[in-house]
Amino acid sequence: MIRLVTTAFVALGLSVGAAHAAGKAGKIVDFDFSFEGPFGTYDVNQLQRGLQVYTEICSACHGLEQVAFRTLGDSGGPELPEAQVRAYAEQFEVWDPTLFDGEGDFRPATPPDHFPGSNISNAPDLSLMAKARAGFHGPYGTGLAQFFNGMGGAEYIASLLAGYTGEEKEEAGTILYENTAFPGGWISMSPPLWGDDVEFIDGSPADIEALSQDVAAFLMWSAEPKMMARKQAGFTGVIMLTILAVLLYLTNKRLWAPVKRAAKQTPAE
Ligand code: HEC
Repeated sequence: MIRLVTTAFVALGLSVGAAHAAGKAGKIVDFDFSFEGPFGTYDVNQLQRGLQVYTEICSACHGLEQVAFRTLGDSGGPELPEAQVRAYAEQFEVWDPTLFDGEGDFRPATPPDHFPGSNISNAPDLSLMAKARAGFHGPYGTGLAQFFNGMGGAEYIASLLAGYTGEEKEEAGTILYENTAFPGGWISMSPPLWGDDVEFIDGSPADIEALSQDVAAFLMWSAEPKMMARKQAGFTGVIMLTILAVLLYLTNKRLWAPVKRAAKQTPAE
């Protein structure tokens, strides 16, 4: 028994130690995104605003290689009308190897094409970033933070963009910017948002917090465009299983009823 208790304490100590060894985790704000919870859905207007922020600011450095332009028109996404999807794609140029008798040339992008990759080699592609980063951590500690709050990829991105303190330093020729959400506290991305960077046609607020959340929501969609369909399938599954469970219970009762009745009539002696 004593050995068991000691082992438990050692294990606990180790996991706490591991959490500390992982480095100073950043400060993540738990924003209320519309897509959270079992019935959460993307806010179409927010996705459109986030697309605008990405297009006007982030795309200068970051790519979105895994995302096809046509998905901007998908239901549950930014839901741009077809003509707008086409017009949007045409702003970008893609390399087409079939042009010029097989020599290849650039041409304006069309809806089936994908967004271009990053323009700057050290700026990571953002397509899957919201799933690659976690705002809330498990499974050390109680492991319940992620259970209750989700992975927090969107929270991490929003906190990162709004997390600059204004301090900077130079290290080995690179300028680093202090950021309260970035693990380690110093990031090489200069603050991309300053407030009022974009003008929304619907007059939505464009302060740093609002812009950060809009673009984070958009990046959550780019990383998980089928989230709503997945949640709905899960919910349908739960309902079907509940009905099945009730039916099985009743069937079970019915099947055993004669046996039970017989057992009652002839009590064991
Ligand atoms: C001037 C170029 C530039 C712009 C503009 C820019 N970024 Fe970055 N971004 C970078 C670089 C460089 C890094 C790598 C930073 C590092 O790892 O230190 C980065 C990293 C990131 C990361 C990953 C952080 C991590 O955990 O590794 C995210 C998320 C991100 N940027 C989001 C955005 C968003 C959203 C925008 C638009 C609002 C944006 N960036 C605009 C250059 C840029």
